[in-house]
Amino acid sequence: MASFYLIVGSVMGTAEQLATAMSEKLAECGHDVLLELNYQRGQLASELDRHLIIISSTTGMGDLPANIRSLDEDLRLSPPNLREKPYHLICLGDSNYPNFAAAGFRLDESLQKLGAQRSGELLVLDAQGDEDRAQQLQNWLDQLLNQLSEGSAA
Ligand SMILES: Cc1cc2nc3c(=O)[nH]c(=O)nc-3n(C[C@H](O)[C@H](O)[C@H](O)COP(=O)(O)O)c2cc1C
Repeated sequence: MASFYLIVGSVMGTAEQLATAMSEKLAECGHDVLLELNYQRGQLASELDRHLIIISSTTGMGDLPANIRSLDEDLRLSPPNLREKPYHLICLGDSNYPNFAAAGFRLDESLQKLGAQRSGELLVLDAQGDEDRAQQLQNWLDQLLNQLSEGSAA
């Protein structure tokens, strides 16, 4: 069994809905999930022994949603030691906007600057994409679950 810390950034509920489905699927597979829908300063430091998954939309003019902004503050102002800390990142956006998924990309940069290591590719879910986002996320999660069962997931 693995433990996950799943941090969500969402304004209108899409990322939250996807995260809730992901959390249910992980729990069905016997994993322990802490679903964080309203991140507060300092929380990441207490959960570093869990696998970290962040899923966030972009809002405003390329900004992070309010319910995950404190994570960005932590990373800028008082980061825990994230050297070699693996993380998974899923960015939601809409390619009709000029700052497509920009907040997610910036979060990725901040994590990497602190020495954290993204596991696999960034999953970018475009509201304008042809593929169903829930299905894309499901495929991504199936891959992660396979890696976990093979013992190769970071
Ligand atoms: C007011 C507003 C501003 C947005 N700004 C951006 C943006 O700058 N870049 C982007 O890629 N998507 C932008 N979006 C699109 C959202 O990221 C996209 O619809 C996403 O799926 C919403 O997820 P959520 O329901 O979890 O917040 C914006 C949406 C709204 C309503």
